[in-house]
Formats: sequence, structure tokens, C-alpha cells
Amino acid sequence: SECDVLTRLKVKAQWRRAYSHGHNREDFAQAIWRALFAQVPDSRTLFKRVHGHDTTSPEFQAHALRVLAGFDIAISTLDQPDALKAELDHLEKQHEGRHIPDNYFDAFKTALLHVLPAQLGRCWDKDAWSACFDHIAHGIKG
Ligand code: HEM
Repeated sequence: SECDVLTRLKVKAQWRRAYSHGHNREDFAQAIWRALFAQVPDSRTLFKRVHGHDTTSPEFQAHALRVLAGFDIAISTLDQPDALKAELDHLEKQHEGRHIPDNYFDAFKTALLHVLPAQLGRCWDKDAWSACFDHIAHGIKG
């Protein structure tokens, strides 16, 4: 499956539901990072500055919400190629020099795709998410 125009609209609509009010964004964010660190414990060392040793600390909570906010922008612009490109370039710069191995991105994808269905229930298209996540991750990796 590809992140084509219709797939982008589907992912965007499903994200709007997962990330809207009524869901607890802090819990959503926490669950993603717990699932990430369970898979790749060594990745915690990348997050010293934002207190990665304690995901419930205010520093890490704020970090986790910044990441979700950045992800929200990428998803929201999936149907506006120029704005999406600008956001992915921006996210690429924010990760520059951090030496994030590909398997950390894979683990982040697994974590996100594991946690999302709890927010979305039955109406969720895993293949669509997989394809569009790959597109976004590719842009961030540069
Ligand atoms: C920081 C987004 C994946 C590691 C950030 C920031 C955003 C962001 C918005 C904050 C930048 C700032 O305010 O300076 C994303 C998105 C991702 C993603 C949307 C995936 C789609 C990853 C992955 C890793 C990672 C897979 C490694 C496991 C980091 C690190 C920081 C960071 C180390 C800096 C933390 C600090 O402030 O010290 N990310 N990120 N990111 N991200 Fe990501």
C-alpha cells in the first residue's frame, strides 16, 4: 500500500479522531514512549536533556507533547505537499546530528501503530498508517 492522495485523506481523518479533545493526549503520548523504550531501551540515552529516565517527569511530558504536535502538523499537511515538505524539512533539521538509527524509527512506528488502535477503535486502517508513517519518517531522516 502507498501513501497516495486518498490514503492521506483517510489517515488525516483518523488522526483527527485520535488526537481530538475527549482523548487524553498526555496518556496517549506516554503510551507511545513506553512502547518505544520497551523495544529499544538504549534509545533512552538520546533523551537525557528531556529527562528520558523518567517519562512521567514534566520535562519528558513536555517533550512527548512536542513530538506529537510535530507529528500532528505532518499529518495535517499530508494533503498540502508544499507545507508538508516545509514541515518535514523542519523536522529533519530538528533531528540533525542526533544519530538516530533506522531501527529506532522502526520501533517508533511499531509503538505508534500499537497505541493508535486503542484511540481509534475498529475504524482504523493499519496499512494506510504504515504507508504514510513511512513517508513522514523518510522525510525526517532526510
Ligand atoms: C525532538 C518530532 C521521531 C528522537 C523532537 C521534536 C519534535 C520531534 C517536534 C522537538 C524538537 C524541538 O523542539 O527542538 C518527531 C516526529 C517523529 C520523531 C514527528 C516521527 C515521526 C523520533 C525518533 C527518535 C527521535 C524515532 C529516536 C528514537 C528525538 C530526540 C529529540 C527529538 C533525541 C531531542 C530531544 C531534546 O529536546 O533533547 N522530535 N520525532 N525522534 N526527537 Fe523526534
